[in-house]
Amino acid sequence: MKTRTLTAGVEIPYLGFGTYLIADGEAAAAVSEAIRAGYRHIDTAEGYGNESGVGAAIRQAFESEGLARSDLFVTTKLWPGNPAWGQPAKTTESTVTSLEQSLGRLGLDHVDLYLIHAPFERDKRLAQWRGLVELKRQGKARAIGVSNFSIQHIEELKAAGLPLPDANQIELHPWSQKPELVGYLNDHAITPIAYSSLIPLATWRVAEGQRSAKTDQMRADGERSDAPFKGMAKKYGVSEAQVLLRWAIQKGYPVLPKSTKPDRIRKNADIFGFSIDDEDMASIEQMDRGDGVAWPMGDPTKAP
Ligand SMILES: NC(=O)c1ccc[n+]([C@@H]2O[C@H](COP(=O)([O-])OP(=O)(O)OC[C@H]3O[C@@H](n4cnc5c(N)ncnc54)[C@H](OP(=O)(O)O)[C@@H]3O)[C@@H](O)[C@H]2O)c1
Repeated sequence: MKTRTLTAGVEIPYLGFGTYLIADGEAAAAVSEAIRAGYRHIDTAEGYGNESGVGAAIRQAFESEGLARSDLFVTTKLWPGNPAWGQPAKTTESTVTSLEQSLGRLGLDHVDLYLIHAPFERDKRLAQWRGLVELKRQGKARAIGVSNFSIQHIEELKAAGLPLPDANQIELHPWSQKPELVGYLNDHAITPIAYSSLIPLATWRVAEGQRSAKTDQMRADGERSDAPFKGMAKKYGVSEAQVLLRWAIQKGYPVLPKSTKPDRIRKNADIFGFSIDDEDMASIEQMDRGDGVAWPMGDPTKAP
């Protein structure tokens, strides 16, 4: 499994399995399928409500696939609370408790990566980050990071003299390339992890109730503007999804494709046997449309 160094002694596999919008009762089957297909990195979150199902599949893999804990890279995320949505923001203490509860649901004694899910509450961001620093010190998280943080949000941590995150998980795909943020992360040895890589596909989150800010207009545009990916897929003899995932890997970003369909789960994992040539990488570079569209209420990197 190809990996990137996250921090001293911690390697993150480029290929991860995403679990957002997989219900707890379906998570064990999907994650077991992914592990059988060769995924060794699983991404979940307190906010997804499926840590118990994800944990069941992980423990099953120890028994039936003969995997050891060190064979799997597991990420979960702190739901930081958002007063704007009527939720109290977590403190340092409740952050520490939150990971302990996540570990209980996962049935693990540590995660490989713990992230703050989003930079919602300005007054509590530093307190929550101090909680993650403490959890790393205790060995409950081997690496710690953030998600949906902008340069300004990370600069706040730096100005407070706190350790910098090991990773920032952000929406990254040809339509949202965030060159300034990615440049900053690379300069600060913070690994960018790409989520929602498959947004340009016409099939992205089309099931009933799967909301996002990807508009109907964009879906209609997408059907026209995914033509270049269709062309590349044909040229390399792969699917459009594989082209989008391979693009991210060539940029150095670990990816987290999600699917509940076994054939897609398997195909999305097959991204190391071909490469996108320089000419196609350069043409994808021209497709950037700016802000992310995965979140229903707008790009969370814009949080004040
Ligand atoms: N930190 C954050 O704020 C954040 C935000 C969003 C996502 N994430 C993480 O990143 C993961 C991936 O992002 P995502 O779930 O938004 O989207 P994604 O993985 O980019 O795309 C998933 C969507 O594409 C479809 N799909 C998957 N493989 C396909 C294929 N080969 N061909 C055609 N369609 C395909 C899926 O449908 P089926 O399931 O029906 O196959 C689903 O609708 C999440 O699951 C989560 O772990 C994190």
